[in-house]
Amino acid sequence: MANVVVVGSQWGDEGKGKIVDWLSERADVIVRFQGGHNAGHTLVIDGVSYKLSLLPSGVVRPGKLSVIGNGVVVDPRAFVKEVTKIREQGIEISPVNLRIAENASLILSLHQELDELRENNAAAGTKIGTTKRGIGPAYEDKVGRRAIRLMDLANPATLMNRIERLLAHHNPLRRGLGQPEIAPQTIYDEVMGVADFILPYMDVSWRLLDEKRRAGARILFEGAQGVLLDNDHGTYPYVTSSHTHAGQAAAGSGMGPGALNYVLGITKAYTTRVGEGPFPTELFDEVGDFLGTRGHEFGTVTGRKRRCGWFDAVLVRQTVKTTGINGIALTKLDVLDGLDEIKVCVGYELDGKVIDYLPASQDAQAKVKPIYESLEGWKDSTAGARSWADLPAQAVKYVRYVEELIGAPVAMLSTSPDRLDTILVQDPFED
Ligand code: IMP
Repeated sequence: MANVVVVGSQWGDEGKGKIVDWLSERADVIVRFQGGHNAGHTLVIDGVSYKLSLLPSGVVRPGKLSVIGNGVVVDPRAFVKEVTKIREQGIEISPVNLRIAENASLILSLHQELDELRENNAAAGTKIGTTKRGIGPAYEDKVGRRAIRLMDLANPATLMNRIERLLAHHNPLRRGLGQPEIAPQTIYDEVMGVADFILPYMDVSWRLLDEKRRAGARILFEGAQGVLLDNDHGTYPYVTSSHTHAGQAAAGSGMGPGALNYVLGITKAYTTRVGEGPFPTELFDEVGDFLGTRGHEFGTVTGRKRRCGWFDAVLVRQTVKTTGINGIALTKLDVLDGLDEIKVCVGYELDGKVIDYLPASQDAQAKVKPIYESLEGWKDSTAGARSWADLPAQAVKYVRYVEELIGAPVAMLSTSPDRLDTILVQDPFED
């Protein structure tokens, strides 16, 4: 028996929602450990679609405990909205099935405003293509040791003090950006307005997780975004502000690395990215449009059109190594159905030399040219396949080639958004 960490092995949007839902049925506890409501996980259960951003995917399954760990940045107003919306879909959410770490940092309206100001100021060159949810500014305050944390709402006597400390940083920054200063009372009212709703969910989550682990519970750590958006290992500065790395599952939930037994990298059969930043295999032709349309490549959170391109084995091989992926769940293979030719990036050319990894330098990342291997496509459909025997021979060849190039086995293969359309090779919990 193992605890499983799920991470995206590309730039996010690999289809983690479905796989996490599939795994959460086999888990007892589901933990989010980084990011915030910038994530977009779509779950389709019995034909009903649930869109989650901040809540762990376990909330839609009765009898599971979901935990928002200390590594997550929590927007309390977004929390109220999402809980209310999911409840309207008939799902029960209460402190019985959901807890939030007392030491989770909060996203406030001033963070979201700052995120938007930076994104909209083209002249300043600060545009990253963020989700404008305030994620970056909130993590900056956390690392800067001036964040308001969930537990602070439980102590109104000291809250004002904390807010003043925060504003001692933000008001000069706002003045510099030509924005009006914020009065401490405004922030106080903002957070106390939602305190009664959110505080019942607060818990000492590291202790709760330790108890669960010692009682033999299976824990599923649900990563958001992808390793190529990791603040260290991603395409910096076009990254998110958290660590999307599997190791963060330990730090972001308050457990030791020994609690993480199996790392499952969710991997799309082609590549997509939203926002700015390098994307060596990006396609600007009709094949790119085909992938975007067939794959419904629009962001769950922002509705933005995703950039699309061929599978980049160099990048996924790199994430397999940097984050320690034991096996992958390959998703959206059916999107490639019907293509005459399928290309896979197997290396890069940089300044006339062939290289087998993506260098960290921003200049080099913008310059690398993909080297492709070409495979024959398949005409039959893979959509809805539930066993290897249902797959066309060329599709199996493609999957085997991907495994060989990235140096990790396919543990699961997803062939449609329906959770039943999954081929299981190796149950990550039983590894
Ligand atoms: P932020 O996380 O909103 O600060 O955005 C930073 C970068 O991460 C941008 O390129 C976003 O498009 C990207 N990003 C954030 N969340 C997701 C996600 O859930 N899927 C894909 N990309 C994301």
